[in-house]
Amino acid sequence: MNKNKFETNMELKDYTVQFNTLANKYKLNRSQSGTAVCTPMNGEVLGHFSEEYNDTLQQHVDLAKEAFAKWKVYPAPKRGEMMRQFGNAVREAKEDLSAMITLENGKVFQESMGEIQEVIDICDFAVGLSRQLYGLTMPSEREDHRMQEIWNPYGVVGVVSAFNFPAAVWSWNFAIAGVGGNVTVWKPSPKTPFISMMLKQIWDDTCEQNNLPWAKDVLRLYLGSNSQAVALCTHKDVRVVSLTGSSAMGEKLGPIVTKRFGKLIMELGGNNAMIVTPEANLKLALKSILFSAVGTAGQRCTTLRRLIVHNSIKDDLVEKLSKAYKTINYGDPFDSEVLLGPMISKESVDKMQDVLETCKANGHTVHGGERISETYAEPSIVELKHNDDITKTETFAPILYVIGYDDLDEAINIQNDVPQGLSSCIFTDNLKEAERFVGANGSDCGIVNVNIGPSGAEIGGAFGGEKATGGGRESGSDAWKQYMKRSTVTINYGDDLPLAQGVKFDV
Ligand code: UN1
Repeated sequence: MNKNKFETNMELKDYTVQFNTLANKYKLNRSQSGTAVCTPMNGEVLGHFSEEYNDTLQQHVDLAKEAFAKWKVYPAPKRGEMMRQFGNAVREAKEDLSAMITLENGKVFQESMGEIQEVIDICDFAVGLSRQLYGLTMPSEREDHRMQEIWNPYGVVGVVSAFNFPAAVWSWNFAIAGVGGNVTVWKPSPKTPFISMMLKQIWDDTCEQNNLPWAKDVLRLYLGSNSQAVALCTHKDVRVVSLTGSSAMGEKLGPIVTKRFGKLIMELGGNNAMIVTPEANLKLALKSILFSAVGTAGQRCTTLRRLIVHNSIKDDLVEKLSKAYKTINYGDPFDSEVLLGPMISKESVDKMQDVLETCKANGHTVHGGERISETYAEPSIVELKHNDDITKTETFAPILYVIGYDDLDEAINIQNDVPQGLSSCIFTDNLKEAERFVGANGSDCGIVNVNIGPSGAEIGGAFGGEKATGGGRESGSDAWKQYMKRSTVTINYGDDLPLAQGVKFDV
């Protein structure tokens, strides 16, 4: 680890200059007091924002509903055109937006650029989708009848997003729900309010440029923390709620939505695994492990947390991995040579240290994982010496558990034997092993990859997972259907009234 780079770069930096330039350029609404937002890079306060309350939520919902009345009848391809222009404006602001993500959550700049690319990609996807909100037509069993499905928007969609993907995950919801004719009230993480304000400003500018000032309310920004998330879940006019965060958060908030029969889309915790078989291309696997386990400082919901390796290659792989871990540069996330930035908070590093202590106390071998500063820690590898339930919990930190196996059945059992079910992968050049893994006897996750790590999914597929991951799907494929009300329509164009199933009811 290149410690010098860290010492010379970090403490001397003044990130507020960069922050203030962006805040002024995008006319961000900062308050003098309220909740402070500190950069995890060195703890400097970037700015404050005011948390909003229930009465303000009512205003947001009222304005969103007014916009919905117009937006839902504004033709879908025209809604797509707005999304195209919004996406283009995001393209132009890509560096600024990425810089704000790095300032607020410490993600390395390259990865922040990737996150904003994900926003652009989903806008492009949504443009095409706006002309493809297809409903099926099916033959009716009755003469002179026709059946079809029409997809209509629900109305107000509440989006609760997390600090780790403060732009991309919101955009999957906003762009897809939006071309479908829905409006969004967005409650971002209190750790990353300013990137949300920037995106909101870009949406507002897009509406101004199109002379559609009312369409600004297609997106409302509702700032706050837990109590605001609860309020959003409780509000009866928020017809769909999309929750992204930990399983604990979903457990708390989800029932509030379902109790009032609101529609729920949850993308919660993961506990993602990679199986490496003796027939794997080890070079490929090694590269993939580094990105999946260390990238984003272990704070993706798709981060690789469990490495399930065949016992014949385990020691060799662990040795190579520990060597590679030592070459990873950490420090200023704006430095292009740095691959590991800070974690979001001191508490996250504390938690990681606690878990590693427990691992040591339980007799496992811990490589790396030393605390570097308040918010920085070395990534760690934990070689398990026996089964341990600690591997069943998601710790949002760069901790990689290595577990040995002898046959593929055992490996798949270990992979599935956790409460969560988001992402998974197998490294093998053996077709039978790969097909086994993706089939009915294979991984029980929502994302099932072959020779690709569990993190870094493309927007074109549906994103989400099973079990404690919540079961929701966002982003591509037909995930749009979750934001739309399916109307099953039967039309009689005849002169008679035959009943289905041949029932006679003549009076
Ligand atoms: C998340 O961490 O909540 O697949 C989303 C990935 C990214 C999205 C992560 N495209 O890792």
